[in-house]
Amino acid sequence: MEVLDYILDRRSIRRFSDQKIDSETIKAILTAAMYAPSAVNLQPWHFVVIDHWPMMEKIMEIHPHARMLQTASHAVVVCGDLQLQHDDGYWVVDCGAATQNLLLAAHSLGLGSCWVGIHPREERRTAFSRLLSLPSHVLPFALVALGYAEEQKPRPERFHAEKVKRNGWKTPFYQD
Ligand SMILES: Cc1cc2nc3c(=O)[nH]c(=O)nc-3n(C[C@H](O)[C@H](O)[C@H](O)COP(=O)(O)O)c2cc1C
Repeated sequence: MEVLDYILDRRSIRRFSDQKIDSETIKAILTAAMYAPSAVNLQPWHFVVIDHWPMMEKIMEIHPHARMLQTASHAVVVCGDLQLQHDDGYWVVDCGAATQNLLLAAHSLGLGSCWVGIHPREERRTAFSRLLSLPSHVLPFALVALGYAEEQKPRPERFHAEKVKRNGWKTPFYQD
C-alpha cells in the first residue's frame, strides 16, 4: 500500500481482538516514533509501555475516555521532557509529531490504535504523573491504545477546499 493510503486510512480503533502484540512489533512502532522530527533534533520524549492488566485498569479509573483499554494489547504513554526541549512549549509539538508517527507505524504494521488525550488537561497530567511515578521534568502528553483491530472504519471525506488560501488569508487557493 502507498504511504498516502496509510495516512488516509488510519482510523481511531477502540475495539481489539485477544491477539497480543509481540515485542518486535512494539519496538518497530517505538522506533518510528523516535524518528519523528523535533525542534533542533532534541528528541525530548520518553515512552512508557503499559502491558500489565492492573495498570490498564488504573488508567481507565483516572481517564474518562480510555475504555478501549479494556481490550487493548498494549498502551504507550508518550511523555515530554522539559529539560530536553528546545524552548518553552516545544515538547508539546515534538511529542505530537512522535505520537502521529506511532499511530501511522501501528497502522502500517496491521494494528489498530487510538490517541487518548492527556495534555493539556492539568488533572489528567497530574493523575498520570502520579500513576507512572514520572520525575517532575517529564510530563505525560498522550496515551496510545494498541491492539489488533476488531472493528473496521471506512475512510471519511476530509478534504475541504475552503480551508486552503493562496498567498494570504483573503484569496481561496481553489476557486472551482
Ligand atoms: C489530542 C487528541 C485527544 C484525543 N482524545 C481521545 C480520547 O480521550 N478518547 C478517544 O476515544 N479518542 C480520542 N482521540 C481520538 C479522536 O477522537 C479521533 O482522532 C477523531 O475522532 C478522528 O477520528 P480518526 O482518528 O478515526 O480519524 C483524541 C485525538 C486527539 C488528536
